[in-house]
Amino acid sequence: MLIAANWKMYNGPAATAEFCLGLREQELDGVDVVVCPPFVSLAVAVQLLAGTEIAVAAQNVHWEDEGAFTGEISAPMLLELGVYGAIVGHSERRQHFGETDESVASRAHRALEAGLFVIACLGETEQERERGETEDVLRRQVSVLEADDNLVVAYEPVWAIGTGKTATPEIAQEAHAFVKTLLDVPVLYGGSVKPDNADELLAQRDVDGALVGGASLDLESFTSICRAATRS
Ligand code: PGA
Repeated sequence: MLIAANWKMYNGPAATAEFCLGLREQELDGVDVVVCPPFVSLAVAVQLLAGTEIAVAAQNVHWEDEGAFTGEISAPMLLELGVYGAIVGHSERRQHFGETDESVASRAHRALEAGLFVIACLGETEQERERGETEDVLRRQVSVLEADDNLVVAYEPVWAIGTGKTATPEIAQEAHAFVKTLLDVPVLYGGSVKPDNADELLAQRDVDGALVGGASLDLESFTSICRAATRS
């Protein structure tokens, strides 16, 4: 089981330091934990979580090692900092920053080649689900990815992100099982995972962990989700 905290554009270096010092004190045996702070907070997270089993990942990574790409960060830069992995293709990147299946694939490909662990996000919008297109969308999004020991997929239905509308355990299970018929990798669930719904989501056969946004910003709720993972 893997539980990853996607902090989005929250937690600058000071807040990250405070969180990581608290996280170090927690008993989290039996679950793989990853925190994904904003770029400016990666260094302090790496430093404060050194010597623990908790990994630090970025929220994005570019497909070139260097070049004229204002505002972007490359895989070698992350590795130099001691960062373990990166999220790619989050729906907020697809929605607000023009990310496409092709750019997501390029980012994932280069990051894996460079030796980073990658969490590749995918999921359908509410309209796509209502139109019965969920499987087509997932098939298209997965088709650009290649299985790799360092790759996990996060199924994040867009309608469940930050909305408090969680997919039912049955919807999550069905989508995860479908993704696994296309690509043999672990699949995390993301979208309004909270301490009070983590147990039943994580209990599903094909749910291999969670990518947690809002509820990962609070140490107590994040660690309670991590503990739920040790029970399933
Ligand atoms: P949420 O976000 O848990 O706040 O819904 C999940 C995500 O965007 O990764």
